Amino acid sequence: MSNHVQTLRVRVAGKHAIAQDIALFELASDDSSPLPPFHAGAHVDVMLPGGITRQYSLCNAPDGAARYQIAVLKEVSGRGGSRAMHEAVSVGDLLTVSAPRNRFPLDEAAAHSLLLAGGIGITPLLSMAEQLSVLGRNFELHCCARTRERMPFRERIAASPYAARVHLHVDDGVPEQRLHLGVLLGTLRPGTHVYTCGPQGFMEAVLASARSAGWPEAQLHWESFGAAPAQRSDDGGFEVQLARSGRVVPVAASQTVVAALAAHGVEVSTSCEQGVCGTCLTRVLEGEADHRDLYLSPDEQAANDQFLPCCSRSKTARLVLDL
Ligand code: FES
Repeated sequence: MSNHVQTLRVRVAGKHAIAQDIALFELASDDSSPLPPFHAGAHVDVMLPGGITRQYSLCNAPDGAARYQIAVLKEVSGRGGSRAMHEAVSVGDLLTVSAPRNRFPLDEAAAHSLLLAGGIGITPLLSMAEQLSVLGRNFELHCCARTRERMPFRERIAASPYAARVHLHVDDGVPEQRLHLGVLLGTLRPGTHVYTCGPQGFMEAVLASARSAGWPEAQLHWESFGAAPAQRSDDGGFEVQLARSGRVVPVAASQTVVAALAAHGVEVSTSCEQGVCGTCLTRVLEGEADHRDLYLSPDEQAANDQFLPCCSRSKTARLVLDL
């Protein structure tokens, strides 16, 4: 499987605290050449010291890419990527990032767009809001956070031309300002597209509300970062067979498919290793995958012709993979 990712050297041109535990980084080309353009919803992989790679959505307007902006929540109990960004990356440092990739594209022609952000999940949605505002499209942005202090981009939104389209919801605020998904999504609106990004529980609540009201999958869009690896205590071992060579590789209960393949010299390109980025997407030719990712839609998972071997497993004793 070849998944070559173009990389760029960028300099940290700015680093600003924009909310409690959230820093905004501005990344500029190191040699004054323009950065590759991007569309709203795109992200870059940031390669950090120690071999850590993390995905961060671009949160500025996709207007020629003089700079990229990313915002990073410092997660004390995370795997170390956000701490490294906060503590080890300073203005003037050089970083290697991937060229922008977009697995969360915006339908710019939709009659209406409903953007629902949970905490730091606002980043791709803010870029979408900027773009929809420039295009003069109809949209509303709902931003949720535990407290006002944890709400990123408050000042930027207040000063934006689309401020009136933005609704801020904080858990510790008065009940009237809370987000009521049943009201917002309780009635299917033809022509309206829903985009959500944030913690897994937040997105599951958004999607469950929409689905129970009959919103079709084609109108629902989500992107998740930072999901925990999906391991369960009752996970067992199984085998994967590489269709092109016929080789059979055992996968132990405590191993991911990617790790088992690597131990046998078979490299699969990975990035997040958490089932959220899609980099390791692999075709399944036989057997039934046990999907643990947040990348594929329920329909795509049910089709059982592809899976994410960094986190997903097998319901059958053997999976035959297109490798
Ligand atoms: Fe990101 Fe597998 S590496 S989904």
